[in-house]
Amino acid sequence: MPTALILGASRGIGHEMVRQYRIDGWRVIATARKQEDCDELAQLGAVAHQLDVTGAESIAALAWRLDDEQVDLAWLVAGVYGPSGSSFPTGPEFDTVMHTNVLAAMRLIPVVGPLLADTRGKLAVLSSKMGSIGARHSTEGTLYRASKAALNSVLADAAITYGAQGVTCVAFHPGWVQTDMGGAGAALTVEQSVGDLRATLAKLDASSNGSFLNHDGEPIPW
Ligand SMILES: NC(=O)c1ccc[n+]([C@@H]2O[C@H](COP(=O)([O-])OP(=O)(O)OC[C@H]3O[C@@H](n4cnc5c(N)ncnc54)[C@H](OP(=O)(O)O)[C@@H]3O)[C@@H](O)[C@H]2O)c1
Repeated sequence: MPTALILGASRGIGHEMVRQYRIDGWRVIATARKQEDCDELAQLGAVAHQLDVTGAESIAALAWRLDDEQVDLAWLVAGVYGPSGSSFPTGPEFDTVMHTNVLAAMRLIPVVGPLLADTRGKLAVLSSKMGSIGARHSTEGTLYRASKAALNSVLADAAITYGAQGVTCVAFHPGWVQTDMGGAGAALTVEQSVGDLRATLAKLDASSNGSFLNHDGEPIPW
């Protein structure tokens, strides 16, 4: 039975990933920052661990718990939008968004990469088209855009480091999705987005290492 690791699964896209992989018979390891959310994930049949992705100690504790694991797929999902608009952020806003969306990836990928190298597995980060510089036509959410552009850079480095060990590393745009972040008026249901993301990742091979893809597999300019 293959194993999927979902980092940030309390609600939204991460929660739906747990639900769909479990329905397909996968073993799922999932994380959430609140114990009550871990309890709920355990009821879906996941092995649940508490993780605040902004906490270095929390990540160290997860690393210790995952030490003996071999993982086939890992999805780094946790993220925050931060302030809307185009004005430059306050220091605390910057810290929250950058720590959640960027620093967490810099700390988690070195934990997860070796678990994937054992299986020649796949690492996917939930980026956003809003992080694309090549496809930029708006300044809405300027801090979020900067954070996802930085996350893409972290993923490109992971593709060099872990690609050499047989891991396929990809950044994904999930579409505009009906979650707390995307809002009720978004274009895709969470079921559609996650169905596409899973199907696309399943089809990829090592030739896709280091790519930035839409949920349907179409390339997105960096
Ligand atoms: N929805 C969209 O339209 C859209 C579009 C492009 C990209 N994305 C990206 O897709 C990912 C998932 O988005 P979503 O729409 O599912 O968002 P969401 O419904 O707002 O859920 C955000 C998830 O991130 C978790 N999270 C935030 N900060 C955390 C922390 N410090 N430690 C642990 N978990 C933390 C939340 O946990 P709590 O419940 O504990 O807060 C929650 O599980 C994000 O990276 C987002 O940027 C979404």
